[in-house]
Amino acid sequence: MEHERSDSLVFFGITGDLAYKKIFPALHAMARRGMLDLPVVGVASSPLTQEALVARAHASIAEYGGGVDEPAFAKLAASLCYVQGNYREPGTYTAIREALRGAKFPLHYLAIPPSLFATVVEGLAGAGCTQGGRVVLEKPFGRDLASARALNATLHQRFDEGSIFRIDHYLGKEAVQNLLYFRFANAFLEPVWNRHYVDSVQITMAEKFGVSGRGKFYEETGVIRDVIQNHLLQVVGFLAMEPPSGAYAEAIRDEQAKVLRSIPPIPADKLVVGQFDSYRTEAGVATDSRVPTFAALELRVESWRWAGVPFYVRAGKLLTTNATEVRVKLKAPPQVVFQDAMPAMGNHVRFRLGPDVAIALGASAKRPGEGMVGQVTELSLSRMHTSDEMDAYERLLGDAMDGDATLFARQDAVEAAWGIVDPLLRMNNEPLLYPGGSWGPAAAGELTRAVGGWANPV
Ligand code: BG6
Repeated sequence: MEHERSDSLVFFGITGDLAYKKIFPALHAMARRGMLDLPVVGVASSPLTQEALVARAHASIAEYGGGVDEPAFAKLAASLCYVQGNYREPGTYTAIREALRGAKFPLHYLAIPPSLFATVVEGLAGAGCTQGGRVVLEKPFGRDLASARALNATLHQRFDEGSIFRIDHYLGKEAVQNLLYFRFANAFLEPVWNRHYVDSVQITMAEKFGVSGRGKFYEETGVIRDVIQNHLLQVVGFLAMEPPSGAYAEAIRDEQAKVLRSIPPIPADKLVVGQFDSYRTEAGVATDSRVPTFAALELRVESWRWAGVPFYVRAGKLLTTNATEVRVKLKAPPQVVFQDAMPAMGNHVRFRLGPDVAIALGASAKRPGEGMVGQVTELSLSRMHTSDEMDAYERLLGDAMDGDATLFARQDAVEAAWGIVDPLLRMNNEPLLYPGGSWGPAAAGELTRAVGGWANPV
């Protein structure tokens, strides 16, 4: 479908963490590729001069953008302007309208607390800035199913569904896209990619750092809302979906939503939540906080393909390492032919999604020597990371400017994901304390005992 390209970007929350770590570097990368062809209006409530904003962008790119390319930066700096204002005052939106200088297709990016989304959308509409425009919203999209629906109703008063872009930056990651590509661009996986051959699936998102100054945000979010409701359930969707009828947005999003709708309620004994032991001393965190910084769970995808196969998902802050990995474990061969010391092993397919990227096939092979003794080896199929690789935010910003929603979450999938996690949030289990630098509470190990335990990414 043909879409008008956005002719300006309005970024709400330009002085915030996301702009500093991701958006300025993404805009700089676009400028370097010759793709930044629109004015950028930064909006925030802090008093800041134009020069200070440009200096902040420069510092951000030096720190997070892999170094400043001065000609590209000059292009970005020339595109930037700043509107300071209170989101609750109509004058702010009049100033935005002026800064847009007659742009017809503005892209409004809301990197602000979700409680302000409705106010900003109404403010934009009041100043005539929503017509012809698109809106990008940062996750989490709502706090639960009911608020996600209410927010959606508010947005739909001003934007049609095709103009709403719910961002989940995991969908823009090269490695996550490759997961989809690898599954559907090859024939050899399909015969085994089902309940007959797959024993279990594990997804681990381990982060070595804690909440790093985001205590206040984290208190309102917790690990389930922060990364399971969105990033990790989207990965489950890509792993488990049926082949889409094409590569266009709705074909992929239909299959994605179908997976999420096939996940039945998760029983209470299939969830373990934890909190790293120093969390309550973090700035912005309540001294008696029950917010989980770790969660591990088992879910099922009740479809023809996956019935009976456990999917284990875990995520946590302040763990042993930084790694996001998927491991699909295949069943062991039906007979033990070689009576060696090693138990009959199945194969596995491992997708490393970050920070480094790999696809590997695990197999047993004969150890060199006299006996028929085996060892587990990995055949690495792909290892990607080029210095010029497109970051998720650069890709997603470009897609939103082009009106391509393929890599954005659709409302029904967002609602299905809330449907899965809402009951978990309501359980409000007391999190088990775990020491920083560990793999989370020991009780999480019980969940995967039947499949030989968690495969910790190295
Ligand atoms: C964000 C979460 O969405 O994703 C963070 O809010 C998390 O808590 C981050 O650290 C991880 O993203 P990435 O791209 O570094 O894996």
